[in-house]
Amino acid sequence: MTTPYIIGACREHQLDAVRSLARVGFHVGFTEKGLQGVLKDLEEIQARGHLLVATMEDTPVGFAGYDFLRDDLETKEDYIQRQLDYSRHRDQKEWLREERREIQEMYGCGEVLVEYFENPFTVTEDINTRDEDMVLTHLVINPLFQRKGIGQALTEARINIAREEHASVVYVNCWDRGSISRLYEKLKFHSIIRLGPGYCDGSPLRMLGLSL
Ligand SMILES: CC(C)(COP(=O)(O)OP(=O)(O)OC[C@H]1O[C@@H](n2cnc3c(N)ncnc32)[C@H](O)[C@@H]1OP(=O)(O)O)[C@@H](O)C(=O)NCCC(=O)NCCS
Repeated sequence: MTTPYIIGACREHQLDAVRSLARVGFHVGFTEKGLQGVLKDLEEIQARGHLLVATMEDTPVGFAGYDFLRDDLETKEDYIQRQLDYSRHRDQKEWLREERREIQEMYGCGEVLVEYFENPFTVTEDINTRDEDMVLTHLVINPLFQRKGIGQALTEARINIAREEHASVVYVNCWDRGSISRLYEKLKFHSIIRLGPGYCDGSPLRMLGLSL
């Protein structure tokens, strides 16, 4: 059976279509200022050659970004390593809940929650961030083409790149709305921590990791 879509690196002339998809995909979870930040990040990720698009008859129907931890030390230290540490040190729960309460006040919605998980990422200190590890950034599929396996295919393509580049872990901070995290669970990612609210629509964020 022929694949009706093609996955490849995003080229300059496809960026406008990617921006439009990002506006549609992210308008619920981000403020206008946040969305402007997302669009700027996408340009930088494309410039690093880390943006994939799925096209049908030359029209982008979805895109996905990634970075290596070495590309963005702030993400490495301030998000990934910090959240790994939180997932292992439950004595910080009250402090984390307090931080989430402030975020809830800022967004005016969402449930304050700190949820822990037990798996190889959280029960030992063996897995720690390395520069060559990958973090999945953005993922949006045109609503008309969702549930056709394109989001999964773009994620598998990023995992394959991580393997080729000798990453040992792929991380993602997922917008935990509806059943989005099922996509990662289907690909055998482990949940590391779930914190709410994480986005301006009140949804939590869930960090997950996949050991390669
Ligand atoms: C999340 C998103 C990227 C999924 O893309 P998609 O192409 O529709 O997903 P796929 O068809 O590849 O789904 C793969 C698996 O993920 C899970 N999944 C995806 N969307 C789901 C949904 N709405 N409800 C339940 N499970 C879902 C399922 O397990 C699915 O496998 P299955 O179809 O065999 O059951 C898409 O819904 C989207 O663009 N949403 C808006 C933007 C967004 O939320 N991005 C994610 C930020 S972290």
